[in-house]
Amino acid sequence: MRLFVPCDSSALSVGADAVARAIQAEAERRGDAVELVRNGSRGLMWLEPMVEVETPAGRIAYGPVTPKDVPELFDKGFLDGRPHRLGHGLTDHIPYLAGQERLTFARVGLGDPLDLDHYRANGGFAGLERALGMSSAEIVKEVTDSGLRGRGGAAFPTGVKWKTVLDAEADRKYVVCNADEGDSGTFSDRMLMEGDPFCLIEGMTIAALAVGATQGYIYNRSEYPHAQKTLQCAIAKARDAGYLGPDVCGSGRAFELEVRMGAGAYICGEETAMLESLEGKRGLVRYKPPLPAISGLFGRPTVINNVMSLASVPIILAQGAGFYRDFGVGRSHGTLPFQLAGNIRHGGLVEKAFGLTLRQLLYDYGGGSASGRPIRAVQVGGPLGAYILESQFDVPLDYEEYTKMGAMIGHGGIVAFDDSVDMAQMARYAMEFCVIESCGKCTPCRIGSQRGVEVIDRIIADQDRAKNLALLDSLCDTMIKGSLCAMGGMAPYPVLSAVKHFPEDFGIHPSARAA
Ligand code: NAI
Ligand code: SF4
Repeated sequence: MRLFVPCDSSALSVGADAVARAIQAEAERRGDAVELVRNGSRGLMWLEPMVEVETPAGRIAYGPVTPKDVPELFDKGFLDGRPHRLGHGLTDHIPYLAGQERLTFARVGLGDPLDLDHYRANGGFAGLERALGMSSAEIVKEVTDSGLRGRGGAAFPTGVKWKTVLDAEADRKYVVCNADEGDSGTFSDRMLMEGDPFCLIEGMTIAALAVGATQGYIYNRSEYPHAQKTLQCAIAKARDAGYLGPDVCGSGRAFELEVRMGAGAYICGEETAMLESLEGKRGLVRYKPPLPAISGLFGRPTVINNVMSLASVPIILAQGAGFYRDFGVGRSHGTLPFQLAGNIRHGGLVEKAFGLTLRQLLYDYGGGSASGRPIRAVQVGGPLGAYILESQFDVPLDYEEYTKMGAMIGHGGIVAFDDSVDMAQMARYAMEFCVIESCGKCTPCRIGSQRGVEVIDRIIADQDRAKNLALLDSLCDTMIKGSLCAMGGMAPYPVLSAVKHFPEDFGIHPSARAA
């Protein structure tokens, strides 16, 4: 009898290890033979720890399970998949999962993330095997044709970036995976690294073949110690099996991979600050140009991609560019693993093709707010993303459509707030975040954000409100136009959207609402 208890840190944080121990002890006490598999999370966070039992009909889910529930679950026959108050039926039939289009997350939650045989048996390394028979230019073309765009947030075409690195002449090239997942409400990078690490390794190896790189680094955020351990173990296994090292799969091509840990600075997710940090220096943003694709790590041409971008590459190579490109709308091809967080009943990961709406995500998947109150505002795209109001919930999630309304999809983080939220405080928080996380290199961001907090405080305290609102507008304009990177350049977006969409929270009469 096989049972699955996730080892993903979201499940561990709510007691998955204790549940696993309780199951093992109860099975021994009863003399039941069980094989306990520690899998990745299926991404239904409100059901964690979610235990699955393998039956002839398929896997049956139970959750959230506590150690105290375990004896009763055995009593009621859960080893045979019998119904129980914590039961949800066949895992694959749970509407939250059944409605998804899991391409990048196809394997996450299915088995032991460090089981190489399981990875191979479920389509793993098919993309790499195909890539090994292609020229670098052919691999780059396949990725370009797939329409894949940078999943870290900027949505720059991945194939174009790779071509720049491929065409650059150098004695050494690098592939760097940006795993400094710092956006509020985001966790897809972590889930993938903990739940299917070989997928990232495969994607990075394909990237290396595509551009002629011999060394790769995964820059992992300091708050992800489980991901670090999983990746290090997966890299060692992949190396032992010949997928990494001086002779990748007997091709005569070399590619080595290492994990590097950040130290807790949000700005080190900015690609050039990350390069500084990787080189052992303080995480200060570099001027661009030169682009990292031309002169990146240690001055060499460097592919820098987010975890999600690189983890999307194996399926593109395995199934072909056309297969991937057929998902999505407009110029937003493929799928995005959206992450539902904040005041939401069913928080978790929903991988869907671009083109669905925020309303579908919030209500069909998220089940509305956790508090039961109406959802008033949603921040999409992390702490630098605009606040979306109810009348915008039906705009399709498509990069261009979101840009048109002054918002961004970013890394797919979605944080919901109910009608008890004070949007003036949220605007203040956005500026304060910038104060704390600014690298300090340029004045509009370093000083502007501090002044921004003070101006918002005066607006909240009703001191010379009209004058201070005008000042806030002008300050935001200076930050947007004058900041060196997205930190200072985008921090004003949540502020401006809060003032525009929720003027009443700033003491502005709704009739004076800006167009
Ligand atoms: P960007 O638009 O300047 O660049 C995007 C990427 O394309 C970079 O890697 C850049 O080097 C590359 N690029 C641009 N032109 C190129 C060319 N001609 N050839 C080759 N490569 C080229 O955006 P940036 O500043 O890198 O990222 C900003 C975004 O980061 C924001 O939109 C935000 O969504 C996202 N972000 C994500 C976070 C996360 O935790 N995932 C945290 C904070 C921000
Ligand atoms: Fe540093 Fe802020 Fe300037 Fe970016 S905008 S370079 S974070 S000071």
